[in-house]
Amino acid sequence: METLFSGIQPSGIPTLGNYIGALKQFGEVQDDYDCFFCIVDQHAITVAQDRLKLRKQIRQLAAIYLASGIDPEKSTLFIQSEVPAHVQASWMLTTIASIGELERMTQFKDKAQKQTEGIPAGLLTYPPLMAADIVIYNTNIVPVGDDQKQHIELTRNLVDRFNTRFNDILVKPEIRMPKVGGRVMSLQDPTRKMSKSDDNQKNFISLLDEPNVAAKKIKSAVTDSDGIIQFDRENKPGISNLLSIYSSLTDESVDALVERYKDAGYGTFKVDLSEVVKQFLTDFQERYNAFYNSDQLDEILDEGRDKAQKASFKTLKKMEKAMGLGRKR
Ligand code: TYM
Repeated sequence: METLFSGIQPSGIPTLGNYIGALKQFGEVQDDYDCFFCIVDQHAITVAQDRLKLRKQIRQLAAIYLASGIDPEKSTLFIQSEVPAHVQASWMLTTIASIGELERMTQFKDKAQKQTEGIPAGLLTYPPLMAADIVIYNTNIVPVGDDQKQHIELTRNLVDRFNTRFNDILVKPEIRMPKVGGRVMSLQDPTRKMSKSDDNQKNFISLLDEPNVAAKKIKSAVTDSDGIIQFDRENKPGISNLLSIYSSLTDESVDALVERYKDAGYGTFKVDLSEVVKQFLTDFQERYNAFYNSDQLDEILDEGRDKAQKASFKTLKKMEKAMGLGRKR
């Protein structure tokens, strides 16, 4: 069976964008792959975090993974900082990454720009850590949203470089993106991506937003003035974004939605979508609360940590050997 790995940062509460771009897929692939799903807390600290808030968000993210359909009987769910191999392998990959290629990463440029008091070095070396997350499990498939494409490309380059320079031991992963919703956009500015760390609450729907509040955000989402329901990302980014959200949450194709709403106005469409979102969040949060409040959560994370430690150890040791670290035994 092939291996699949993906991660989410506990740097806020995941949004509907994280769900549609990533979490939804995770639940669907568990029978087809040996899956590892990670709460990447070491990635989260590349920007300043409040200690207590981070702790809470780690736990919330674990419950969110489970509410999204991750079944701990089938998949390994764990916290990155509890499996040392990630950082150990990351150091080795950092030594073969060039500063130039890391500086070219869009996410680095975006995040570096927002820093007022010096750019943390961890923001620059973030992608080799991400590459390490992936390679230590001999991952074949990485399901992510559109914004992670560049990081996966870099991972593939680092794998080639490592294999050529040292020994051909790392598996080169393939990216997997959703057909619809790989890039869910901000509700107030549909030319920007929906992000969990956005300062304006109206731009995103958090998976833990009160369902009525989320419904209001949909109703006040920015569209355009021509009033025709069509999918055209370039010229009609607002309504196209809402169509993607609708399609992803109901599994009805965008074409079918366009046909169904062809004589309706934006008002009717938004009211219907707001009901879809409200119902989705109500059901999601019911599952979330049950997991968040259960004692089972720690047991699941303990078991996930043990499984991940075991699974990652072999490749880590092979990498160290290939680079000549430690002693010959
Ligand atoms: P993060 O935490 O920003 O996002 C988690 C996942 O959600 C996707 N995503 C979106 N999809 C659609 N529309 C959006 N607006 C949107 N925003 C986010 C992301 O593409 C991602 O799949 N660096 C990663 C975490 C990570 C990782 C890994 C992922 C660390 N190591 C190894 C895969 C493999 C990140 O910051 O994701």
